[in-house]
Amino acid sequence: MPSLRDAVRGRILFGGDYNPEQWPEEVWGDDVRLMKEAGVNSVTLGVFSWAKIEPRPGAREFGWLDRLMDLMHGHGIGVVLATPTASPPPWMGARHPETLPRAEDGSIIWYGSRQQFCPSSPVYRRYAAALTEDLAARYAGHPALTMWHINNEYCTHCWCDETAAHFRRWLRERYGTLDALNEAWGTAFWSQRYDTWTEILPPRKAQYMKNPAQVLDFKRFTSDALLECYTAERDIVARHTPDIPVTTNFMPLWSGQDAWAWSAEEDVVSVDIYPDPRDPWGGQYNAMIADMTRSQAAGPWALMEQAAGSVNWRPVNQPKPEGLNRLWSLQSVARGADAVCYFQWRQSRQGAEKFHSGMLGHAGEHGRAFRETRRLGAELAAIGPAVSGAGVDAGVAVLHDWDAWWAGAQEGSPSALLDYAEVIRHWHRALWENGTATDFARPGADLGRYPVVVVPHLYLLDDAAIDNLVAYVRGGGRLVCGFFSGVADRDDRIRPGGMDARLRELFGIGVLHEWWPLEADEAVECDGFRGTLWSEELEAAEDAEVLATYRDGELAGLPAVLRKGRATYVSTLPEPAALRSLLGDVVREAGLGPVLAGLPEGVEAVRRGELLFLLHHRREMVTVAVPGAHEDLLTGRTVVDRIALGRYGAAVLRSTAP
Ligand code: GAL
Repeated sequence: MPSLRDAVRGRILFGGDYNPEQWPEEVWGDDVRLMKEAGVNSVTLGVFSWAKIEPRPGAREFGWLDRLMDLMHGHGIGVVLATPTASPPPWMGARHPETLPRAEDGSIIWYGSRQQFCPSSPVYRRYAAALTEDLAARYAGHPALTMWHINNEYCTHCWCDETAAHFRRWLRERYGTLDALNEAWGTAFWSQRYDTWTEILPPRKAQYMKNPAQVLDFKRFTSDALLECYTAERDIVARHTPDIPVTTNFMPLWSGQDAWAWSAEEDVVSVDIYPDPRDPWGGQYNAMIADMTRSQAAGPWALMEQAAGSVNWRPVNQPKPEGLNRLWSLQSVARGADAVCYFQWRQSRQGAEKFHSGMLGHAGEHGRAFRETRRLGAELAAIGPAVSGAGVDAGVAVLHDWDAWWAGAQEGSPSALLDYAEVIRHWHRALWENGTATDFARPGADLGRYPVVVVPHLYLLDDAAIDNLVAYVRGGGRLVCGFFSGVADRDDRIRPGGMDARLRELFGIGVLHEWWPLEADEAVECDGFRGTLWSEELEAAEDAEVLATYRDGELAGLPAVLRKGRATYVSTLPEPAALRSLLGDVVREAGLGPVLAGLPEGVEAVRRGELLFLLHHRREMVTVAVPGAHEDLLTGRTVVDRIALGRYGAAVLRSTAP
C-alpha cells in the first residue's frame, strides 16, 4: 500500500492549496518563481475547480490543468491533486435540486457558497464519480502527481427524503428488525414506537427534545454516508494509480466524522489546523491535534492546511505575530508531521476568503508573510532528511471516541455546559504542560504498550471497551478516568447504578448516588484544589483509597478523587495545576519522565526519532539546559550544554556525542 513516505521521499512537503484558476495565466509564472524561492515542493491543485473543469454537465476542460501539471513538474514541484467534489457548480443545484442538502427544518441549503451536496444523493454521487474517473484517467502516470486529495473537509449534513431512505437502509443493516430498533431507541418513551420502516426519519426539527438514541444513530450514519462518498472516489483513483497515496483532509477534533474509522480508509492521514493566534494555549491546541492525528495515522501525518497569518472566520481576525507560524509549523513536525502545508499559496483578491492570509499575502513578495514563508521553507529543507519518516514515542494514551462524544452531546443531559472537546483539551493540556509525550487511542484499542492511559470523559463505553479497560489495569496498566464516564451502553441506555458495575468495581466506587454539575462561575473546594464544571455524590467502596474529598457544599466530606490499586477516578474537573500534578504523579509512578527535565516555563521539548525539538511559546529570552554536545539543524551551529531561545524561538538538536 502506498503511504506518505512515497509522496515525501525523505523531505518535508512544504506548500499549500494553490488556486491558479482565480488568476490570469501570466501570474502563474510569478507563482512558480516565488514558490521556488520559498522552497515550496508541493501544491494542492483543484480543490474547488469543479466548475472550471466541468462548466456544464458532462463537459471536460482539462487544458488549463494540463498546463499547470506540466508547469509544476517542470519546476520540480509535486502536485497533490484534489477531486473537486466538495463544491458542485451552480448547474448541479439548478438542474438537480435534489442534490442540495436540506436542513433539519426542511429548508434548502442553496448554492452560492460551497459544500452544498447531499451525501446520499445518487445524482451527486454519479457526477462526482464520473468526474473523478476522468480526472484519474487523465493524470494517472503524470510525473507531477504525488498524492490524491479526495474532496475537502467532508462536513455536510442533510435531512432530506433521499437521506431518510438511506438512513433506513443503514438502520436495517444495523438492527435487522424493527423490534430491535424500537428496543435500541427506547421508543416506549413518549409513544415513539415505529410500526413500519417508512415511518422512520432523520431527526428533523421537532416540538421538543428528540430521541437521543435516534440522534446518536443519525450521527453515526452521517459519518458513514460521507465515508461512502470518500471511499467511492478513493477506489476510482486507486484503480488508476495503485501506487499513489490517497488522503482527505480532516477538520481538527471535529464531531462530524469518526476519524478513527476514516483514517483506516486512508493511505495518508491529513488534517487542517487553525489555532487562534490570540489564544495563550494555541500551542497546546496545535500539539493536541498533532498528537491526535499522529495517533490516527499510526505514524507520520500531513498538515494539509494552516494559516500563514490570519483566518477570516473568527469575529476578530488578527494575523499571527512574527515567528508564530514558524514555531507552530516546527511543533507539528516535532509531533510527527511530514508535510507542512497551507490554505493557501496566494491570498485571493476576490471571493469569501479574500481576507484570509496566504503564504504570499496581498503585500506580495516584500511582505512579512512571504518573508516568513521563505525562511520556513529553507529550514524545513534543512531538517527534512533527518526528520522525515521518524516516529514519536509516547508512554501515555488519552482515550477519545466519537460515539461517546456524540452520545454525550445531547439535549436533556445533566449539564449543557459539558463540552466534550474542551474536557479533552483540559486533560491534554495537563500532560502537555508536564512535558509528557502523549498519544490518543480509541477505547477498544490495544493499550498494552502504554504504561498510563487516561480517560478525560467517555460518557458512552460499550462492553468491549469496558472489558478492555479492566484487562488493561489487570495487566499492570495505570488508568486515570474522569467524571461521567462509562455511564451509557452502545445504545445510550444508562447502565444500572449510573455507571458500569465493572468500572465501579475497578475504581472502588461503592455507590454513585447523583451527578452534581456546576454552574459556569461555580467551583467546589476539594482537598488541595478546586474542581469545576462537575462533581459527583459518590460513596467509596471499602477497598478504595480516597485521595481527595470535597470540602464544601452539599458534597462536603465525600470522595472527589479515589483510587483502587492502579485505577484512579476523578469525579470533577480539577483546575489545571491540580490535574497537572495528579497526572504528573501517576506518570512518575509509572516510571515515565518528561522528555527533558528542568525546562523554563513555556518551553516545550519533543523527541522525534534522533532529534530533540525545543519550542519556545513565549516572548522573553530563556536559556534551556541541554546536557551534551549537539548540532542545531536549523542553524548548523554547535550547541553545548545550553541554548538561548528568544521570542517564539526553536531549535532542532541532534546529539553529536560519540
Ligand atoms: C478550511 C478549508 C479551506 C479554507 C480554510 C480557511 O476549512 O478547507 O478551503 O476555507 O478553511 O481557513
